[in-house]
Amino acid sequence: MQSLAPRQDFIGVADSAYLYTGAESAPLKSQTQALTRYLHERSRAEAGRAEHIATEARCKQRLAALMDCAADDIGLVGSASEAIVLIASGIDFRPGDNIVTNDLEFPSTVLPWIQMQEHGVEVRLARSRDWQFTPEEVIAQINDRTRLVAVSHVSYLSGLRLDLAPIAAAAHAHGALLLADVTQSLGVVPVDVSDYDFAVASTYKWLLGIHGGGVLYWNRARLPDFAPGAVGWFAVENFLSDDRFERINWKPTAERFELGMPAYAAIYALENGVRYVQQFGADRIGAHVEALGDELIAGLQGQGWTVMTPVERARRAGNIAIAVEDAVAVRDALIAKNVHTWGGDGRVRASLHLYNNSADVSSYLDALRPFAPDG
Ligand SMILES: Cc1ncc(COP(=O)(O)O)c(C=O)c1O
Repeated sequence: MQSLAPRQDFIGVADSAYLYTGAESAPLKSQTQALTRYLHERSRAEAGRAEHIATEARCKQRLAALMDCAADDIGLVGSASEAIVLIASGIDFRPGDNIVTNDLEFPSTVLPWIQMQEHGVEVRLARSRDWQFTPEEVIAQINDRTRLVAVSHVSYLSGLRLDLAPIAAAAHAHGALLLADVTQSLGVVPVDVSDYDFAVASTYKWLLGIHGGGVLYWNRARLPDFAPGAVGWFAVENFLSDDRFERINWKPTAERFELGMPAYAAIYALENGVRYVQQFGADRIGAHVEALGDELIAGLQGQGWTVMTPVERARRAGNIAIAVEDAVAVRDALIAKNVHTWGGDGRVRASLHLYNNSADVSSYLDALRPFAPDG
């Protein structure tokens, strides 16, 4: 298979097998122009600020189209981890409440709940078997004391893609909220956040942005009065209003999660990255990585590896992981052959995106062969 996107649009892809997108994507060459544009606008003082605001608005419109929501439902903060904490800060957890999550989550979707245990909040874990679980196993953990269900659409660990719609329905039936981490799905497979209460995503992976950004989705139609437990000047309307010493006049949009001046450099790059993704569309990118994933999984199984990722296309996205005891050593040996994967947590993860092709899959399989169980 050919790559879906021209490989020459990216730095570092032409001369390596870049399978590292689940950690960080290869940079778009056009980010140089996007960041230069940011600096140029900075030099235009007040006029430049207007362009920063316009770029942020365009970025949110593009993200909204990708997530099936309104641009005003999206806040741009510093990272996905920060978005999670800002959302959690607005929920009035009481002793005896619980939060449901699972053991395939990235630490940012677990650590804030561990911290809340100090305040008498219980953390209920759906436990995976062979790196998989079903929506029903998450639903089984939800009860009438559940305030929040926090779950990834696609696992950073095993690559499992979960249908979150039944989990959202079960959470709502018990009066709980659903927070979806779409970091490992947004930009690579179709995402529809309309069933969720909140969603977060990192910007420097599948969305082709840079570090310094985080996407926060707030379902304003379901939770019109929600506000974070933290506030700054950028989150309020008319920040110099006469009544500012008396009350908080929250902005009506998800900008209320943006405490201070947003990280505009990261936003210029994110707008450029999402625009690039939109040229291809999540349907086509998803079909591309699913077909390339078939090739990769067949090759890994042929070498005798235990593939942690489900074989069925609908239950995976771009991440394909294998169980490897000394994953860091294998990852380092692969780097020496110019094959970039993520190794750790007892597995090596290869991530497939729009710039990957069959030659990348072959380079990876060739570099892995000396370590293969059947090798
Ligand atoms: C599922 C998931 N959520 C969150 C993060 C962290 O994102 P950020 O660095 O933007 O907080 C990662 C990073 O690997 C991730 O895989």
